[in-house]
Formats: sequence, structure tokens, C-alpha cells
Amino acid sequence: MTLTTRQLPEPHRRGSPYGVALVCLGNICRSPMAAIVLRHRLDKEGLGDRVRVGSPGTGDWHVGQGMDERAAGKLTEAGYDPSGHRAQTFDASWFARYDLILAMDGSNAEDVLALAPNEDARSRVRLFRAFDPDVGDAVEMPEVPDPWYGGTDGFEEVLTMIERTVGALVAVLADR
Ligand code: 4NP
Repeated sequence: MTLTTRQLPEPHRRGSPYGVALVCLGNICRSPMAAIVLRHRLDKEGLGDRVRVGSPGTGDWHVGQGMDERAAGKLTEAGYDPSGHRAQTFDASWFARYDLILAMDGSNAEDVLALAPNEDARSRVRLFRAFDPDVGDAVEMPEVPDPWYGGTDGFEEVLTMIERTVGALVAVLADR
């Protein structure tokens, strides 16, 4: 399994924007934070038209809701705008609509892989932190820990991880 390779899957269609989907459990903390930071950085690099970003969760408890207020607070403090997010769920249709599927933790990756219709779909799944420059190759399961059950410190830590990882991911996307 290639969950930690930094090699990008081939696009479904050449010429259309490359689709990156960020997946967590509830879609109100980690993946929407990562999606907003990624969109922000892509726009800054002039890549906003070439890469399309989406974020779903594998669970459906929060569908239609905005971001967790602790997550939104951290993003706002750091200069991002979290207001547009509405939670949605991951299903098999995401494999056809997105080229690269990035799971926040190993359990999210397992849930996503369980819905993959074929080998091509499976080969599009990575762990988001596979792109984290601070994670060595020896780490088998580089995860973004779920901050939902903890205090605000967890959200700070998650945002730092996300910003660092997104920086490296944008460089890889820009290279392709
Ligand atoms: P997320 O965090 O997966 O980072 O959005 C969670 C949010 C909600 C729940 C679990 C994790 N929940 O069980 O409702």
C-alpha cells in the first residue's frame, strides 16, 4: 500500500483542474482547516485555477453544519476565513471527481479505502502528512491527531502541522 508516497496520482483528465480531496471523520475540524489553508496558499501561488480542493468527512453527524468553533477561531486568528465551510460526507463518487484523496489519519484512510470501487481508486489515497517535511520516512502512519475531544491547544498543534504540510504539498503540486 502506498499511503505514504509523495508521488501524485495521474489526473483523471488532462487540462482540467487537479482535484485534491481532504478527508477526516466529522468534517468540522481537521479536513476543513486543511482545505482552507490549502486554497489560501494555492491562490497565493497563482495555482488557484489549476487545483480544485474539496473536503468531506467519513461520518455524517455534522452534514450541513459550519466548522467547529474552536477550529474556526484558530483559523480566524491566523488570518484565514472559515465562514464558507459546510460539512459533507465522503462517498465513492469522490474517487471519480478528485485525483488525490488525502486522509487525515489511518482510520480515515481505512474508511475511504473500504469505499474504493477499484485499484485505480485505491491508488489515489494517501495520508495527508505523507507530505509533512518534519515526518521521517520511517514513520509508518503519519497522522493528524483528532483535536475534537481535547482543548484548544490541540487545534493550535493541528494548524501548525497543517500549515507546514500544505507548504510542502503546494510545492509538489506546483512541480507537476
Ligand atoms: P474531525 O473531528 O474529524 O477533525 O472533523 C471530529 C469532529 C466530530 C466528531 C469526531 C471528530 N464527532 O464524533 O462528532
